[in-house]
Amino acid sequence: MAKELRIGLIGYGFMGRTHSNAYKRLNDFFPCEHRPVLKAICGIDPEKAQAFAANWGYERSETDWRKLVDDPGIDVIDIAAPNSVHHEIALAAAKAGKMVFSEKPLALNVAQAEEMVRAVEEAGVPNMVWYNYRRVPAISLAKQLIDEGRIGKTFHYRATYLQDWTISPDVPQGGDALWRLDAAVAGSGVTGDLLAHSIDTAMWLNGPIARVTAKTKTFVTQRQHAVTGKVQPVTIDDACMFLAEFANGSIGTFESTRYARGRKNFNTFEMNGADGSLYFDLEEPEYLQFFEYMQKQSGKKLESHTTGWRKIHTTNSEHPYMDRYWVPGTCIGYEHTFLNALADFVMAIERGERTQPDFRSGLQTQRVCDAVLESAKSGAWVETGVEV
Ligand SMILES: NC(=O)c1ccc[n+]([C@@H]2O[C@H](COP(=O)([O-])OP(=O)(O)OC[C@H]3O[C@@H](n4cnc5c(N)ncnc54)[C@H](O)[C@@H]3O)[C@@H](O)[C@H]2O)c1
Repeated sequence: MAKELRIGLIGYGFMGRTHSNAYKRLNDFFPCEHRPVLKAICGIDPEKAQAFAANWGYERSETDWRKLVDDPGIDVIDIAAPNSVHHEIALAAAKAGKMVFSEKPLALNVAQAEEMVRAVEEAGVPNMVWYNYRRVPAISLAKQLIDEGRIGKTFHYRATYLQDWTISPDVPQGGDALWRLDAAVAGSGVTGDLLAHSIDTAMWLNGPIARVTAKTKTFVTQRQHAVTGKVQPVTIDDACMFLAEFANGSIGTFESTRYARGRKNFNTFEMNGADGSLYFDLEEPEYLQFFEYMQKQSGKKLESHTTGWRKIHTTNSEHPYMDRYWVPGTCIGYEHTFLNALADFVMAIERGERTQPDFRSGLQTQRVCDAVLESAKSGAWVETGVEV
């Protein structure tokens, strides 16, 4: 009989839905011994929480997350609420001996993230940060090719993460729906919201970022508060660009904004190495582009007029995660990245192992985010302090 993995989820918003979908579909696609049981959902509005519970099949709904943490019938506390509450909930959940999942960014700052790492490591509880883009099959394939040595020594890393939803000065800030524009709740703007993803992916693929220098910009400097109606200064970064030097000697550029008209969730990276290059674009998520530099072709002279970039459709059963889904040539979607992340976590604990990215890994990304924001203030190069 399947072992139960009893879930207490905090947050019924965007991420609450992606996580709930992953819990519900896990055993349909992955051979896990554990079966998630949706015990409780928690959120601010009691009616919305109740409606979410009814829709997704949670046994009950709450408006105080402590009730989930104190419940001995819950094994996992999953934090899918705004960034300002990750720290307090994670500390309490670890103290209660629960497994803890946290959405990204792990915390508002490095000090909080360090405490969270200490809490889960002292309690000895399995933990995970939902940096789900690692679980896009094309990005996992990029990691595989890098580990196989297919692109050789890296010289360049180039990341962009562009959106366009805050261009109008009439968009208010704060409150339940627009907390991302309130630095007290979000910690930062695009740096923690979007670049945190790019940084996690970059360090997974290309190793630690050693130092950074950054420029941030706030284009709309005052906005009405969504709850109080008062016009207040905007304290988040609307755009951020930074240069990075990796511990392996390669250099990188990172650019993020919510002011790139026409771009909705344009998340790309390119890596250039001595023996090859890789390119990924989330708007075509099933493709990984790969250029392989070949000096010799199995005894034949190199046909340089037929060399070029390969656009790999990552839907074969040999590609990461794809043996769990459909037939070659058919795609999976955004929601499956969360399902893949959950499956990796559950199968790892079943083997007695821990999965990545855990809180310690999330702390490294937090270190880079904080260094970026510090550099944007001082204009100087800042050492990240990322563990090498
Ligand atoms: N991994 C990703 O790709 C990704 C994408 C979007 C958001 N996120 C992260 O997920 C988290 C949630 O973002 P979202 O887009 O789902 O937000 P959202 O605004 O859609 O939902 C937030 C939820 O948190 C609840 N909440 C707020 N304060 C609370 C409190 N004190 N106690 C209990 N519940 C509370 C709200 O009721 C709501 O249900 C953030 O940390 C965000 O950075 C990650």
